[in-house]
Amino acid sequence: MEARVLLREAIERLKASPAIDHWQRGRERIEAEELLAHVLGEDPDPRQRVAPRAAARFRALVARRARGEPLPYIKGWTEFRGLELRVRPGVFVPRDSSEFLAEQAIRRLRARRAPVLVDLATGIGTIALAVAKAVPRASVWGADVSAEAIAQARRNARRLGLRARFVVGDLFSPLPRRLLGGVDVITIHPPYVAAHELADLPEEIRAWEPEHTLTDHSADGLGIVSRTVREAPAWLRPNGWLLMEADPDRARDLRRVMVRGGFRDVRSTKGGALPITRVVVGRRPV
Ligand SMILES: C[S@@+](CC[C@H](N)C(=O)[O-])C[C@H]1O[C@@H](n2cnc3c(N)ncnc32)[C@H](O)[C@@H]1O
Repeated sequence: MEARVLLREAIERLKASPAIDHWQRGRERIEAEELLAHVLGEDPDPRQRVAPRAAARFRALVARRARGEPLPYIKGWTEFRGLELRVRPGVFVPRDSSEFLAEQAIRRLRARRAPVLVDLATGIGTIALAVAKAVPRASVWGADVSAEAIAQARRNARRLGLRARFVVGDLFSPLPRRLLGGVDVITIHPPYVAAHELADLPEEIRAWEPEHTLTDHSADGLGIVSRTVREAPAWLRPNGWLLMEADPDRARDLRRVMVRGGFRDVRSTKGGALPITRVVVGRRPV
């Protein structure tokens, strides 16, 4: 069967799926092409003939996607700032929007002599590994409460030949105490969905990604970030930065939490594909 016929059929199937969030025009075509490329091992030429076994495999993968399974779980990897990160079910799927958080960290760390980064709630090592790649002389730490995520982060670091240390535990608790007062930049992309908003998430997120990666079960989605703001000053160097990825609708609340916590130069920063607040930043209190 010709690739273009298979693709057309897949696009129709994905478009009809109620489990997929159809927020982006043309998303179904991009995903169908990615799945066919995954099966064929190369970008498909629309006119090429696809062997029956490959066609059957492609249709099976399209059926999984139509049930809402995130594409990176199906392919087993995702790309983040040019890094191929392996990702399996049981962990959060890195989002393109977090590239802006990584860029904010990289810019600040490049200006330091012996830069130290702590990436809290690191998941599969997303921000930590992007920084390790861009600033190879940085000392990079990633921490996450999920042992499964940290195992995947370590595997990613090994595969990519990047130097980063990953530890399991609640927020700062697993970090060595020698880092106290010595960290230049702390990043966190926290679970920031409020408990009552979970039900409003698209099915492909709610039904597939683990709940503890999405929400901290607080009423306002600010539970983990408030703790981070309280605990971060002890770990930061003078003039060190706390950078937090934010729900754009809650950036103002987050700024208030940081200002109340004594942070200086607190501001929202916009970036990435959409002109909305992505990251709230502040400097360590004096
Ligand atoms: C939104 S995901 C972000 C993952 C990764 N930083 C990224 O951007 O792809 C939130 C992460 O927070 C972790 N997490 C949840 N509660 C935590 C806690 N109390 N301490 C540390 N990590 C936590 C989850 O396991 C999950 O990996």
